[in-house]
Amino acid sequence: MIDRIVEIEKFDAEETSVETTLRPDAWNEYIGQEKIKKNLGVFIEASKKREEALDHVLFFGPPGLGKTTLALIIANEMNANIKVTAAPMIEKSGDLAAILTNLEEGDILFIDEIHRLSPAVEEILYSSMEDFRIDIIIGSGPAAQTVKIDLPRFTLIGATTRAGMLSNPLRDRFGMSFRMQFYDADELAKIIVQASNKLDKEIISEASMEIAKRSRGTPRIALRLLRRVRDFAEVADENSINHSRTRFALDELGINSHGFDEMDLRLLNLLASSNGRAMGLSTIAASLSEDEGTVEDVLEPYLIANGYLERTAKGRKATRNTYEVLNLELPLNDGGLF
Ligand SMILES: Nc1ncnc2c1ncn2[C@@H]1O[C@H](COP(=O)(O)OP(=O)(O)OP(=O)(O)O)[C@@H](O)[C@H]1O
Ligand SMILES: [Mg+2]
Repeated sequence: MIDRIVEIEKFDAEETSVETTLRPDAWNEYIGQEKIKKNLGVFIEASKKREEALDHVLFFGPPGLGKTTLALIIANEMNANIKVTAAPMIEKSGDLAAILTNLEEGDILFIDEIHRLSPAVEEILYSSMEDFRIDIIIGSGPAAQTVKIDLPRFTLIGATTRAGMLSNPLRDRFGMSFRMQFYDADELAKIIVQASNKLDKEIISEASMEIAKRSRGTPRIALRLLRRVRDFAEVADENSINHSRTRFALDELGINSHGFDEMDLRLLNLLASSNGRAMGLSTIAASLSEDEGTVEDVLEPYLIANGYLERTAKGRKATRNTYEVLNLELPLNDGGLF
């Protein structure tokens, strides 16, 4: 994989540890996603009043928008223990059974990338979510026995970047599901200022706004850019992060002023090259050497949300904005498409 600075997925251990330091652990530090915060706040309060475990929660949306962070805040608010794991780590049904039987009343189990569970493991998860009970088969052949094990009331929090890949039965068993939204520049600027305070580095507001605008609507990218810009300021011996240094650093790092990454640009160029005709998802995926799900759930949402790509019945289309941002002429023979 190419190391791009606006790459959305996490790519190194240093980053993961810095993210942990900068991660908000209470509502007041969690900026934006107002609707989710409001709803969750109500549900948390209600279940605390009833002294019951919270209903199972699903978060879905592109990487880096704060799903894991929300799970940790919920645990904090509920005063609950949280066990964090990811689907690829749960290979066999026995792995899940071991995790589940070790939970205690009111605990939270967070499963990241939950769309990647194998069907056999998913099956166990269904009954545990619904009936708080699992059936385990011991032995094999005619001597095999089914043992029922009761589980404590726990809360499952699932997170996925690929909602489309979740099976219906699994999706249906979540009492609440929330789609994460991209952040606007003001929200990202707040996140940047808050993080700079934690990093003990002053940042002027124009600078935080400049970073915010180039962060692809994503806190993870905003924080990554902030750290790089801070490096530039420190090398230049500047006490605070100012606007001109920020612009210089971002240009130096090759960050597009719309926050597009290389993959975005490849996709937009591809669409623009089709002269106004729609292009099928499979063609796009093949041309970019990506799988369809990644194009659909990770790449496209930001472009669609900002009017750079349109999904139609016939496929994906470039928009006027696409041609503008790429500095290309609108196709002459656009058949009135624009
Ligand atoms: N609303 C927010 N307010 C402040 N900081 C945030 C917010 N959302 C995310 N962050 C910051 O962005 C970083 C990335 O967020 P997080 O790890 O929760 O994303 P994610 O949605 O779980 O990503 P992935 O899909 O890759 O697991 C966190 O370290 C956190 O510091
Ligand atoms: Mg996460």
